[in-house]
Amino acid sequence: MPDLSAAAGPHSDRPLATYKAIADAIGTAVADGTLKPGDRLPTHRDLAWHLKVTVTTVTRAYQEARRRGLIDGEVGRGTFVRDPEDTMAAAPNSLPAASARPVMDTPEDGGPVNLSINCPPLTLQREALAHTLADISRSNMMQQLLSYQYETGMREHREAAADWLGRVGIHATPHTALLTCGAQHANSIAFTTLARPGEVILTEPTTYPGTKSMAAQHGVRLEPVAVDEHGLRPDALDEAIRHHAPRALYTMPLLHNPLAYVTPEHRLRDLAAVLARHSLPVIEDDVYGLLVPDRPPPLKCLLPDLTIYVTGTSKSMAPGLRVGIMAVPEMLFSRMAAGVRASCWMVPPVMGEVMRRWVQDGVADAITAELRRDVQERRAEVDALFAEATAFAPHLESPQGHPYSYHLWLPLPAPWRAESFVATAQRMGVLVLPGESFAVGRHRPPPAIRLCTGTVGGLTRLREGIRLLARAVTSQPEDLMAMV
Ligand SMILES: Cc1ncc(COP(=O)(O)O)c(C=O)c1O
Repeated sequence: MPDLSAAAGPHSDRPLATYKAIADAIGTAVADGTLKPGDRLPTHRDLAWHLKVTVTTVTRAYQEARRRGLIDGEVGRGTFVRDPEDTMAAAPNSLPAASARPVMDTPEDGGPVNLSINCPPLTLQREALAHTLADISRSNMMQQLLSYQYETGMREHREAAADWLGRVGIHATPHTALLTCGAQHANSIAFTTLARPGEVILTEPTTYPGTKSMAAQHGVRLEPVAVDEHGLRPDALDEAIRHHAPRALYTMPLLHNPLAYVTPEHRLRDLAAVLARHSLPVIEDDVYGLLVPDRPPPLKCLLPDLTIYVTGTSKSMAPGLRVGIMAVPEMLFSRMAAGVRASCWMVPPVMGEVMRRWVQDGVADAITAELRRDVQERRAEVDALFAEATAFAPHLESPQGHPYSYHLWLPLPAPWRAESFVATAQRMGVLVLPGESFAVGRHRPPPAIRLCTGTVGGLTRLREGIRLLARAVTSQPEDLMAMV
């Protein structure tokens, strides 16, 4: 074992957190060859004793070293220095730390079935991209596409974005349609435009975790507003506005993530009336907007001057394109464009061009149509498997959510708590997210998980994942099996 004592202990004068210093020392020892691939590290307890730190500190240090790809290990086998050549060092179905979770389903690696990521399956996208990139490379636009552009994006790209916004009934022009690097980036620009650190933005009691972490990074406080089965409650919104003096409302009326409801038009009109009465700006996150045919109008159509509307290509074409699309009040356009410039200068023009071509030559509409078909097929499969599972788990409910939603909300039967269920499911080989991941502030959601049906390759893999989930539900929670 290398000398890690400088990393910790009473004489350490390092400003770094101790666990990070220990992870750094492991990194240095791996880099200079003191630790070699396959070398076994001391047990948590031994190292803690040796360094005069707590066992928890060593556990965190090892987690950090694992996150950096330096070490690997399995319960019962110990902790080893990882071979950098061996990308499969983690045993199949071993449990990745939350931060090291695969972002895609990887059946070919024998990895767990990943129902935790909200991503549309690839249907026509692969082939379409091959053609489009070949066409682009032969076009006379290469000079432009490979150069710097204005932060607002190329005019042709904003025209296509305005076209795309028209599909949900929003009237936009190149002076109100703005491109960003994904909806996450668009939300981030909207947040920083409307609120300063310490100020409040209201939202649903459960919301997209990416927004939670972005708000935390900007120091903006999210405060929850009560919902019912139709979405935000107008009376609760009115009260929250009076109580918190917020800068804006951030909301997902359509295919809310994670609850997967669609707010009906009559409710949207009631909410719009409250917002108009208080002149409160709205950030409407509508990334799933194209998935639902005959959808209610976006809030943007009811409150055009108060709403910053956010969507993008991630859920209706492919997340890897990283093109976000905003419809912003004309008065805010240049401020928000300055936000794009300050954060990334501009959207990659090549990706903007792929979006333009797909919107204008019908590829985007064809993908949307295929996704609408596919999502219903997957839902039918999920419902059938859950109906089967109730034979052995009579209290198991079916997952809840709109028929066109790729993400579903599954209330867990007693005695399950979401965190322990997720850990059990993970051990059985299927990844899902606990309701708590979406909780805003001190809100405590009921025991439930979010599962996503779109990430997995095909129906066979989805079936495997749902069967594993059903098996996990019928197993005994570990905390009930404790002997002492
Ligand atoms: C509600 C919501 N908003 C934004 C995003 C991020 O989208 P993008 O990939 O375009 O950044 C997601 C991704 O899952 C989402 O669910």
